[in-house]
Amino acid sequence: MDVNAPRRLAQRMAASMPGAGDEEEKSLRHVAIIMDGNGRWAKKHGVSRLRGHQEGMEAARRAVEAAKDLGLSHLTLYSFSTENWNRPEWEVRHLMGLLRQFFEKDLADLVEEGIRVRIIGDRRTLPNDIREMVEQAERQTADNKGYTLQIAFNYGGRDELVRAVSSLAEQVASGTLDVEAIDERVIGDTLDTANAPDPDLVIRTSGEQRLSNFLLWQAAYSEFIFMDCLWPDFDEAAFREAVDIYRGRNRRFGGR
Ligand code: IPE
Ligand code: IPE
Ligand code: MG
Repeated sequence: MDVNAPRRLAQRMAASMPGAGDEEEKSLRHVAIIMDGNGRWAKKHGVSRLRGHQEGMEAARRAVEAAKDLGLSHLTLYSFSTENWNRPEWEVRHLMGLLRQFFEKDLADLVEEGIRVRIIGDRRTLPNDIREMVEQAERQTADNKGYTLQIAFNYGGRDELVRAVSSLAEQVASGTLDVEAIDERVIGDTLDTANAPDPDLVIRTSGEQRLSNFLLWQAAYSEFIFMDCLWPDFDEAAFREAVDIYRGRNRRFGGR
């Protein structure tokens, strides 16, 4: 057995990590946000949960704007999880409606600002009109040269892995892929996030400290920042505060 093989694998893995190999290991390319706390914000202000989600949408717009000023290459927003179908039907319907509204109202601005839009998650089970909007948004922004906005909608990290594994299994079964060829790169390229760098930073608002099925594979070496602020209160100052904390972190990727 080649005793250096594990070391070579680890070096290869480290080299593919965001910011790795740079002088600047704190370079910040990709921020992923778990936008949590709309319901608690609504309760705190004595308004309906629906209003909380509407305000949450405004906060998402602010984050999209701030990401540009921060010079990110990718911003991922967790908008609807595969588990969020367990909410009451009226709330699910409202969240779908907000996504429609976002595409109707904001797509033109995104095109104009050069932002590339990509939706991650299982789109096959979304209502037809939303699936069409998603595809249109991706098509219309495909040639944009600005940063990439990834909207995680009907997204679950485990669901994404299940879909990737079955796709690879089909390719093996049909003879287009050798089992020996399956490595981390092939798996990464089969995920919804193919070609995006792994998130350097994952932010979750509302004080909860869990991943809730977000980017399970991609967040292997991400930094995590949990903020108490409720998502509708998140603004550029809060975003900058998280980035400052991130810059004070020491990323090691398993090295010393
Ligand atoms: C986040 O806010 C929005 C979604 C998950 C869609 P919540 O609706 O989860 O708000 P809380 O957690 O109940 O406060
Ligand atoms: C995570 O928030 C999902 C999104 C932000 C879209 P949830 O509110 O659904 O997560 P849990 O249920 O508190 O873990
Ligand atoms: Mg929540």
